[in-house]
Parts: sequence; C-alpha cells; structure tokens
Amino acid sequence: MIPRLGLVVQNNQINRTEDEEIDIESKQYNDLLKIYEIAMNQVVNSIKILKDRINEVSGYPIIERVTSRVKSKTSIINKMIKKGYDITYKNLVDNVDDIAGIRIICPIREDVLNIKEIIGMIPSLKVIEEKDYIKHPKKSGYSAYHMIAETPVTINSETVIIKVEIQIRTVAMDFWSEMEHEIRYKSKKELSTSDSRKLTRYAKSLEKLQNKLVKLYRKQENDSLYYTY
Ligand code: GTP
Ligand code: MG
Repeated sequence: MIPRLGLVVQNNQINRTEDEEIDIESKQYNDLLKIYEIAMNQVVNSIKILKDRINEVSGYPIIERVTSRVKSKTSIINKMIKKGYDITYKNLVDNVDDIAGIRIICPIREDVLNIKEIIGMIPSLKVIEEKDYIKHPKKSGYSAYHMIAETPVTINSETVIIKVEIQIRTVAMDFWSEMEHEIRYKSKKELSTSDSRKLTRYAKSLEKLQNKLVKLYRKQENDSLYYTY
C-alpha cells in the first residue's frame, strides 16, 4: 500500500480499488506522474552509464545523446479522450504506455539494433513490447525502434512496476521526425496530400544520404586501420 499517494498496489501494479476518475488538478495525479518521472530518471541514468562505457570501448559515439520527458498532464488526458478511454487511473496505468518517454539518438543506423540489444540486457528493465519502424517505416515516413519496458520503483518501501517508452533513432531519423512534427502541427490546417507525400519522400532521401555518409565514414575508418599497421 502507498497510502500517501492514495493509490493501491496489487501484484506490483498501481491500481485503484475502485476505478476512480482522474482529477487533473489533484495531488494524486501529480504524485502518480512523479512516480513515472522517478522511473524515467532511473532508466535514463542506467542508459547514460552504459553510453559512457560503450562509447569508450567502441572508440566512437555509438550513442550521441539521451533525452527524456514526462508527458504533460493535459496531453495524457487528450490521448485518453482520443482513444475513447474513460479518464480513470486504471485506464491510464493500463493503456497509456508513453507517459515516461526516453529517446536515444545515435549517428549510425546499424547501431540502433546494437543499442536495442544492450538496453535489453539492463537487469532492472523488462522489455514487454517492441516495434521496428526501421524495418517497417510508418506510412508517414517515420522510422525508429520503439520499446515499452517495465522497471521497478520503490517509494515508501513499496515497489511498483512502471512502464517507460524507449525510442531509438538515428540523428537523421530524429531530424526528420522533429521537423515533420513541427510542420504537421504548426498550423491547425491539415497538411495537403502533396506536402504529406513530400515529407515521406524526404524521409527516404535522408535515409539514403545517411547510408552514403556512413559508407564514407567506414571507408575512411578502414583506411586509417591499414595506415596504423
Ligand atoms: P500511440 O497509441 O499514440 O502510442 O500510437 P502507436 O502505439 O500506434 O504508435 P507508437 O507508440 O509506435 O508511436 C507513437 C510515437 O512515435 C509518437 O508519440 C511519436 O513520438 C512517434 N511517432 C510515430 N509516428 C510518427 C510520425 O509519423 N511522425 C513523427 N514525427 N513521430 C511519430
Ligand atoms: Mg504507443
């Protein structure tokens, strides 16, 4: 039990005995989001420690940067409304998987899968879902590797399991998705079909350009290996 939070812990999950509606201004909602923030920070710290170690071993920045955010209070509610869920704690905990979001950005496409393997080996993380939008990009052109993982958080000597979303992307994929998001949501007006198609085409062009740059990088890397011997 975590009485201070007014939430009930059953089988390591946060639940309400009754399926209580969320009051967006309540302390209880803020407290719940704080637990997500703690979970997120724990995972970010583990990834950052790994980042330093693997970058050191590999001799180049396999992971360029790690960013994170807790979804805003209103974005969570809007998402639940959009998906047709009643605005209850149970629905939030069960169905909104990206309240705590972590992004890992790397320069080289092949490293996305290496990073995914490394993330899977973090002992405090249990990966429960994976989506490979690199192998199968979205219709929009969006490309990344997504994982939903569970991690334990201990508060007031009670341990609860919290879900975090981890997105792994290359620098090019990240640039495209940030720009696409800005372009799409800049105006209330929906993007024209021809502009949407442009965005999809640009995602493919960036992917090609990214591969060419990596080829050039690998070539120089091999040359420098021969040079030192
Ligand atoms: P949700 O229920 O919203 O999570 O959708 P989903 O499960 O169908 O998709 P998923 O969780 O795999 O991806 C959702 C997240 O990926 C979004 O919050 C974005 O961060 C990112 N994303 C997915 N598609 C796009 C896209 O077309 N453009 C951009 N910029 N980001 C996208
Ligand atoms: Mg999702």
